[in-house]
Parts: sequence; structure tokens; C-alpha cells
Amino acid sequence: MRGVGLNEDRGEQENWMKKFSEQEKRLRDRMKNVEHKIAVISGKGGVGKTVVTVNLATASALKGYRVGILDADIHGPSIPKMLGLHGQRLQAGPPGIFPVMGPMNVKVVSMDFLLPSDESPVIWRGPLKMSAIRQFLADVVWGDLDFLFIDLPPGTGDEPLSVMQLLPEMDGSIIVTIPSEVSQIVVKKAVMFSRELKVPVIGVIENMSSFICPNCGAEIDIFRSGGGEKIAKDLSVPFLGKIPIDPKICEASDEGIPFVVKYPDSRSAKSFMEIVEKVEAFVKTHQKGKIE
Ligand SMILES: Nc1ncnc2c1ncn2[C@@H]1O[C@H](COP(=O)(O)OP(=O)(O)OP(=O)(O)O)[C@@H](O)[C@H]1O
Ligand SMILES: [Mg+2]
Repeated sequence: MRGVGLNEDRGEQENWMKKFSEQEKRLRDRMKNVEHKIAVISGKGGVGKTVVTVNLATASALKGYRVGILDADIHGPSIPKMLGLHGQRLQAGPPGIFPVMGPMNVKVVSMDFLLPSDESPVIWRGPLKMSAIRQFLADVVWGDLDFLFIDLPPGTGDEPLSVMQLLPEMDGSIIVTIPSEVSQIVVKKAVMFSRELKVPVIGVIENMSSFICPNCGAEIDIFRSGGGEKIAKDLSVPFLGKIPIDPKICEASDEGIPFVVKYPDSRSAKSFMEIVEKVEAFVKTHQKGKIE
């Protein structure tokens, strides 16, 4: 009887290994069709990673690129809300899971599309989160994309680690910070994390840089503007630009309309467009060394 049990165990293990390697192959095949993969990270919460991801992705789509967003924030997915897609569901068919189509045809996949209600928490440990992210990469019909932006939760935990390990060909990471000194300490961690995992740092964005008074036009440095640029210089990584604190950014995010679409002529939208140009330049110059 014992022998039968062992054989069953072995059979199950072989079956699992087979499924795993098939999924691995699907992941590699699908990701071959995605030209550039970019992770948006930060050591700190609430600094604007999701706002930056949404607006860089949409600004890239406005320039004519084919774009996807993987919301890899498993516990606090907020990409759908900021794109007006909250409440939508992922559909599956024979080729795989279809992403939800967002503004400017940006393809979106998020845990939010799988949760039964707004209050449902995801109570998962590391391995389950990694397996969800693996499935989002391997089993989603992403199609041909120029850019896949990956929005990550704060810190250097399971999700960023999983994404970096699953995508060793990642073009690079964009680090978002606010200018305060407290935030700069955690930027260092994000830079070290990227370096440790051999992911090039595309650069640092200083979000909530200063506040332009809508009444008098005066520029007020609420979080002491300039910290992002300083830390980028100290760590020898590129500085990509500043995004001011702009009440319209918050308003557009809450309404679910990408800010760059709603206020294309604003100073902040221009900053996003300039950052996209720097990202374009980075991926072009770093293309040669990429792993096929
Ligand atoms: N430049 C800005 N001007 C005004 N409001 C902003 C700006 N950047 C972000 N916000 C607002 O700040 C809040 C936090 O932003 P966001 O959710 O993008 O941060 P996050 O770093 O992704 O947070 P988390 O760590 O929880 O994922 C949101 O309500 C967003 O609309
Ligand atoms: Mg976020």
C-alpha cells in the first residue's frame, strides 16, 4: 500500500512539474511579444506610483505606442479605479485571459478585476502572490505591445521580487519619490534593490514636487522641492523630472480619467510627456544589450 502512495505522490509531482514548465514556456512566448517592460517602484507608500504608471502609460499610448499595464499590487490594486475600469471583470477564452481595455486602448490586468467586492481583502502569502503574477504574465493575451508598465506596491517585498525574477529581461525600473528627506532614504533602498536584481534604474521621478497656487500662481515647496534630483545625483542615477502637486491630478485620478488625457495642456501633463521621452531614449540606447 505504501508503494502505491509513493507512486501517486511522484505522479502528482511530475504532473505539477509539467504544468509549471508549460506555464514557464507560455510566459516566455508571450513576453517575447512585449518589446519593453518597465517596473514603477518606490520604497514608500502613497508617493504616487500608481498615478505615475497610469499617466506614463497613457502618455505613451497618446504617442501611438501599444501599451499594457500590469497592476502587480495584489493587496491594494488601484489602477482600475484610476482608469475608470473598477467593477470590470477579466474574461477567459481558449487563447487565455483577456485584459480589460482601458482609455487609449491601454490593456489592463489587475487583481481588482477578480475580487468579488470592494471590501474583499486578499489574504495571501508570498508564494500565492508570485503564482498570481506568473499567471498574469503567462496566461494573459497581451498580444504585441511596445510597453508593459508594471505598477508595484510600496517596498521591496514579494511582488517586486516576483516581477523582477519572472522578467529577467526587464528594461528597467522607474523610482518614484516625494522630495522630503525621509523619502530619500527609501529611494536608496529602491535603487539598491534594483541593482541587486540587475535591473537597470531608468531614473527617479520627484512627484508632489511643489504646489502651484491656482489663485496667485505662486510656487510653494510643501515637501521641499529638489530632494529627488539630489538623491538621483548622489546615487548616480538619472533624474527624469518633477511632477508638481496638482489638485487636478487627484481629481482626474478619482474620476478615473487619466490626467494627461483630461488636461493635456497643463504643465504637469507636459512633465509626464517629457518623462516619456526620456524613457523612450533610455530603452532605445539600452536595447542592444538585451537578452533575446
Ligand atoms: N502630483 C500629484 N498631485 C496631486 N495629487 C497626487 C499627485 N500624485 C499623487 N496624487 C494623489 O495622491 C494619492 C496617492 O497616489 P498613488 O495612489 O498614485 O500613490 P502610490 O504610491 O501608488 O500609493 P501606494 O503605495 O498605496 O500604492 C492619490 O489620491 C493620488 O491621486
Ligand atoms: Mg499604488
